[in-house]
Amino acid sequence: MNSVETDTSSPQLIPVGAFDIVVFGAAGDLALRKLIPALFHRWRDGQIPESSRIVGTARTQMSDDEYRQLAFESFREFHPADKIDDSEWASFSQHIYYAGLDATSPDADWAPLRERLEDDQHKQRVFYLALPPGIYGAVCQNIERAGLKSDNARIVLEKPIGKNLKTAHEVNEAVGAVFDEQSIFRIDHYLGKETVQNLIVLRFMNSLLEPVWNANVIDHVQITVAESIGAGGRASYYDTAGALRDMVQNHLMQLLCLVAMEPPLDLGADTIRDEKIKVLRALRPITAENVRQTTVRGQYGEGALKGEAVPSYENELGNQSVIETFVALKANIDNWRWKGTPFYLRTGKRMHERRSEIIIQFKDVAHALIAPEGNQLQPTRLVIRLQPDEGMRLLLVTKDPGPGGMRLRYVPLNLSYADAFSARYPDAYERLLMAVVRGDLGLFMRRDEVEAAWRWVDGILDAWSQDATPTHKYAAGTDGPAQAAMMLDRDNREWFDGISA
Ligand code: BG6
Repeated sequence: MNSVETDTSSPQLIPVGAFDIVVFGAAGDLALRKLIPALFHRWRDGQIPESSRIVGTARTQMSDDEYRQLAFESFREFHPADKIDDSEWASFSQHIYYAGLDATSPDADWAPLRERLEDDQHKQRVFYLALPPGIYGAVCQNIERAGLKSDNARIVLEKPIGKNLKTAHEVNEAVGAVFDEQSIFRIDHYLGKETVQNLIVLRFMNSLLEPVWNANVIDHVQITVAESIGAGGRASYYDTAGALRDMVQNHLMQLLCLVAMEPPLDLGADTIRDEKIKVLRALRPITAENVRQTTVRGQYGEGALKGEAVPSYENELGNQSVIETFVALKANIDNWRWKGTPFYLRTGKRMHERRSEIIIQFKDVAHALIAPEGNQLQPTRLVIRLQPDEGMRLLLVTKDPGPGGMRLRYVPLNLSYADAFSARYPDAYERLLMAVVRGDLGLFMRRDEVEAAWRWVDGILDAWSQDATPTHKYAAGTDGPAQAAMMLDRDNREWFDGISA
């Protein structure tokens, strides 16, 4: 008989060859908060070969040691629970170098950076642009002009790629003039998350699910990415973007693609990306005619979180704004699989808790044999919890045990990652950085994918600008504006926020 046991042994890590990684924007938040700590963890697990170098560049002039110190202090500040001792850091930081440079200037002196890279055409070279997208093109040109684009050089672009289809196209053209598509790694860090990767395994490695994964059986899908943090120190950037550009165009649409796509033939990067793009192309446009029924914009006012008063978005920003910190959307996918089964997307800052979930809600039973007391009949739901408390719950109606007749109870079949697996889950950036070094494009967005997502989002932005759809205020620490609940109510549905006791 087959048995299943939880494997608690350390998995074999896939080795990577020696590489040099140049981080542009090395003194910024992303580099210090995410990239250097991610590389540290890969080093700690023995995945960074001895001769690999991490070279930070930014406009400020600093010595290697000063940058190492800055990186160390930031690590301790941002990851207080991550225990790291001085000697460990000292060994790791031998991989770190720094070169002060204005990479946007053609006249800058690139010699210090060149000196820190090894002149070995076979060594993998990675340029990571932790910079605003408006300067990607200039930096790429300057990398080439400075003679640093080695034969196998790769470039990593952070989101957002542009702020609409037009600017995304411009960024892609400018970067594409220097690097070919196979060398361009466009990051959406959600694709590096453990639970997001699991979506493919869940859907396509369990024969139970695929036959019911369609509009005949599924009533609708909800994707919620709620954050409790506010825009805070990023408010001035955030005000140029808003939740639709910052979260929906990339993270939520990638999740939607993974839930909705057809089974790929294999796990090849382009096979998966070809399937995702078909979903994006099948999205019904949101236009000025339907924007009021299909979208809700919100912005947090002041409120309270965990008993503490928190300021409004406008207060953090320092002026008035109509930018949305919350958005809820109804997306329709016009293809055979999903005709008539909407996907409701919702994301917001300063919501009452941090919670990212995908909810697959199945249709009601065709004929209810037992009338539930008080409550309405509960549908079968599959709840995929992406973060925190990663896991899955299949919510089923069962008979409440004991005497008293056929009383119904709604209970979960529970898989909690914390209980089932003892492994540490690497941060998304750890996985993504190693994937770049290995050249695994499957976890990154292809140019046509980014542009197709923008095409749909541009329609919403246009409709918003024509229709003057209001941005509704919601109190910080709540679930967003009431209009989001009303949008589902019109369809006789409601957001699912867990089983009430
Ligand atoms: C980023 C957004 O891409 O994702 C941020 O720019 C957001 O505004 C963040 O806070 C959320 O990421 P995570 O991994 O914390 O869910």
